[in-house]
Amino acid sequence: MDGLGISTGRALAYSALITGSVVAWLLSRPPHVHVVGGRRSPPGPKRLPLLGNIRNFPKRWFVEFSAYQKEYGDILYFELPGMSVLVLHSLPDVEELLVKRAPNYSHRSNSYMVKVLMDFEWSVVQQDLGDSHNEMRKVFRKVIGPRTVSDFDPLIEGEAETLQGNLFSFSGDPEQTLMNAVGAAVIKLAYGERVYQQHGEELTRLNVESVDLVTWVRMQLWLVNVFPIARFLPSWLPGLQFPKVVTKGKNLLRKLRHWGFSLVKQDVEHGKADLSVISKYLHEPEFSEETLRDAVALMYMPATDTTSAALLSLFAMLLQHPEVQIKAQHELDSVVGKGRPPKMSDIPQLTYLNACWTENFRLNPPAAMGVPRRVAEADVWKGYVIPKGTMVMTNIGFMMTDERIWGPTAEQFQPERFLSPDASTLPDAASIPFGFGRRICPGRYMAERTGILFAATVLAAYTIVPPEGETSPAVTFGDAFVRKPVDFRCRFLPRK
Ligand code: HEM
Repeated sequence: MDGLGISTGRALAYSALITGSVVAWLLSRPPHVHVVGGRRSPPGPKRLPLLGNIRNFPKRWFVEFSAYQKEYGDILYFELPGMSVLVLHSLPDVEELLVKRAPNYSHRSNSYMVKVLMDFEWSVVQQDLGDSHNEMRKVFRKVIGPRTVSDFDPLIEGEAETLQGNLFSFSGDPEQTLMNAVGAAVIKLAYGERVYQQHGEELTRLNVESVDLVTWVRMQLWLVNVFPIARFLPSWLPGLQFPKVVTKGKNLLRKLRHWGFSLVKQDVEHGKADLSVISKYLHEPEFSEETLRDAVALMYMPATDTTSAALLSLFAMLLQHPEVQIKAQHELDSVVGKGRPPKMSDIPQLTYLNACWTENFRLNPPAAMGVPRRVAEADVWKGYVIPKGTMVMTNIGFMMTDERIWGPTAEQFQPERFLSPDASTLPDAASIPFGFGRRICPGRYMAERTGILFAATVLAAYTIVPPEGETSPAVTFGDAFVRKPVDFRCRFLPRK
């Protein structure tokens, strides 16, 4: 017996038991839930003091976030200097935050560099919720919403035939040809055939340069985004890059905003304008001329890379699944017949081709990580504290291949899944890759019409096969913001 009335052996046994219990308790707690000052933040990889997750924050977003999901679960949380990031991996969580709590989860991430310094606050994609954003969405609804998008069918049909011609005997990577085809359709829709004939090349270049610059700037870490006061640093300071980038961006975006619009407006005034969104809606009483101008200037950017990526990955899937391609072509032959290209009015009857489109959209959503949102006010959800200003990302690519939803064939290309009697129980794969709630893509009707008609027109005329002397390649997807096959090669063999 010792002074405490317990033998040393038993004391050791007790202390071992207590230590063991504490260790077991510690191990049973999700080790990744951070508790700081009594506040629980959502699960996520280990953070360093001050630096947070700077060392383990993914560079290849879709692939690495999906890998983290396996380790930490559907809700991931990171802290970076000056910013926290929440990444969602389940549809019910997205529904809860982005739809039910939409007013708090529908602002866009703040980039002082892009929005303020480059003067890009007029971009509908960048704007926070509010009157200006509502007005802008009104324009999209009115001009390419479900009731009016078909006004531009003849234009899309013409572009589909041009694409068919451009792919005659084509062999190699069709990425650029598809980008050009979608880009031409968007510019003609926005500004008309006449302006496209005169200035199409320059308008395309202007848009491409603007997309590239804005995308690049958004992916960099800028001191001014964390400390806006740094904007007053003298531009001659050695190594200071942002003033030059700001000047270039400002000039580019000013031209993008005004130039095309002013060309069409002049044509309208001189009675020379042909059909375009601007000429058709210039005197529309529902919105101002300036709102129309800004909405139209923003069409090419979110439309071209995404829609052509969806087509490129569909062609890659069809090359890898010749049996699917033959079935789609037989359907085209029986619905459209031979001797004329498909029309938009044929599309609803092409059930199998529609299923191919949806299946590819599910398996390879072009915006695999969505477009980031920003939390307006601090929130508590599932017991976790979500700080004000947190950037929220949706791993759409993961949700669309989640075996818990799609079963063991989740990673396979099987259009039949959307034709089976159980299809109605599946999530809406034709819509989810366009985003959620108040910020869902307003170009979705146009994207779907353009994409499916272009695919139909190409498949009616060609069989997609490997280039001469090559075998069917494995398809590799890139890590860019818009996810699509890289270095994909094929040949468009004219059908007999
Ligand atoms: C396959 C093609 C397309 C895909 C996959 C796609 C996807 C998306 C996604 C994921 C978002 C973000 C939604 C969210 O925050 O929840 C978005 C926003 C947007 N998209 Fe699309 N998009 C496509 C085509 C188009 C087209 C053709 C246009 C216009 C002609 C367009 C215009 C826009 C605009 C303006 C926004 C910003 C909306 C806002 O912030 O309120 N997109 N798109």
